[in-house]
Amino acid sequence: LRAFLAPKDLSGLRLLVSAGPTREYLDPVRFLSNPSSGRMGYAVAEAARDRGAEVVLVSGPTALPDPWGVEVVRVESALEMRKALLDRYPWAQAVVMAAAVADYRPAETLKDKEPKAEAEKLLRLVPNPDILRELGERKEGRVLVGFAMETREGLERARGKLARKNLDLIALNYVGREGVGFGSPENEVTLILRDGRVVELPRLSKREVAHRILDFVKELWKR
Ligand code: CTP
Ligand code: CA
Repeated sequence: LRAFLAPKDLSGLRLLVSAGPTREYLDPVRFLSNPSSGRMGYAVAEAARDRGAEVVLVSGPTALPDPWGVEVVRVESALEMRKALLDRYPWAQAVVMAAAVADYRPAETLKDKEPKAEAEKLLRLVPNPDILRELGERKEGRVLVGFAMETREGLERARGKLARKNLDLIALNYVGREGVGFGSPENEVTLILRDGRVVELPRLSKREVAHRILDFVKELWKR
């Protein structure tokens, strides 16, 4: 019902959203990952759809069903996510990067499962590419939104990421606050804009946080 009642104030917007964790495989049965549930990114995709945007959602492995009315591209690793996002980037007018991309991957991945003593040799890690930074380098008028998960020095670190990745807005999450963040239905975020505005949102549902972020995307896109 909500979908039909929402104002279609984002119609005409082509929005690319990423969500969920990535998995970095050591072998077919072992991987490195993180606790992202995907809920924040899915909430953004659904809220934008309800407001009339055309949405492509690039999702790492999650337990969530594909949202209706959204094109969903399922990926596993950071390298797959990078490729899916770069493929769609020319089409997009705005990107909300809510995925929790693994910072490292094993230098090698074994084709078969081997005893753990073999797999141990694979614990040499290499850094994954910074996808959002690459998108920021070829931005060309798009609206770019990132997330930052921090446990301390949040404002400073998030501002650094905003600048480094050439973003318009970064949503800062404090991990470890009770009842918010990874896996929970609610979130408490601070929105930091390129133009210097800082908006501290109260504890809200992820859907409501998504709408607040999209209000800024709309403002910046219309400019
Ligand atoms: N991000 C990305 N590619 C990566 C890592 C992060 O696109 N390899 C994106 C995330 O999706 C998020 C933003 O960059 O929107 C910030 O992620 P975060 O992990 O907070 O930043 P990092 O640059 O990885 O810095 P840190 O060393 O603090 O983890
Ligand atoms: Ca990181």
